Amino acid sequence: MRLGNSSSFSISDRVRLLSPLSSSSSIFHAAKFQNGSSFRFQKGNVGNGVAIQASKEDSHRSVPDVVFEPFEEVKKELLVIPTIPEASLARQKYTDRCEAALNEQINVEYNVSYVYHALYAYFDRDNVSLKGLAKFFKDSSLEERQHAEMMMEYQNKRGGKVRLQTMLMPFSEFDHSEKGDALNAMELALSLERLNNEKLLKLHTLANENNDVHLVDFIESQFLTDQVESIKEISEYVAQLRRAGKGHGVWHFDQMLIDGATVA
Ligand SMILES: [Fe+2]
Ligand SMILES: [Fe+2]
Repeated sequence: MRLGNSSSFSISDRVRLLSPLSSSSSIFHAAKFQNGSSFRFQKGNVGNGVAIQASKEDSHRSVPDVVFEPFEEVKKELLVIPTIPEASLARQKYTDRCEAALNEQINVEYNVSYVYHALYAYFDRDNVSLKGLAKFFKDSSLEERQHAEMMMEYQNKRGGKVRLQTMLMPFSEFDHSEKGDALNAMELALSLERLNNEKLLKLHTLANENNDVHLVDFIESQFLTDQVESIKEISEYVAQLRRAGKGHGVWHFDQMLIDGATVA
């Protein structure tokens, strides 16, 4: 597109030439794009070309669809901020279903933690005394409680309310006539981690159905990878204990856990 006499340049967008603007030292022209943005240019001493200089006015022009009018738009936000003291001020696009589902998951984490704590107490008995397994289940119990706490913190962050629920009384005896106690306990741990993973995936699906992008991200970034790794790790423990049998092999397995296993 040509602008002016001998001064010309090409641009990909269509522009509309506006009236010349007077200046003390030279003549400025202004062009306006169809999308609303504009620039000013000046015929300068650059051969036959023009020197183009962006105007400070440009920053005030916006694409029509994303025009932000803060003082107008904020009015409707002001209307939805609760005034009653019982209601959260931070809550935004957080559905009751997501809130309830997160409280359910907090309960799952607490229940798993509780069972692991019972397993810790069993293996720590003087007549059982498998210290590696005791340590493994104590650390695992703590980790599940930490998961519950992370979810409680998140619930508050989104303006939901934490409602703790009842926990079931776990078993206190874990010996098994065929499997022995170590394998029996580790198979129980594997089933708990797999169940926990299913619950997390259901929570993830529900968050997606409710278009809760932030809750989806929270579950993905903080829990899903960890859960898959736990399942792999405990699956390997179950396989090793199935090889080891109930006797001396279990003692070796227990020593390995003392030397540094991670948690479930
Ligand atoms: Fe967990
Ligand atoms: Fe876990």
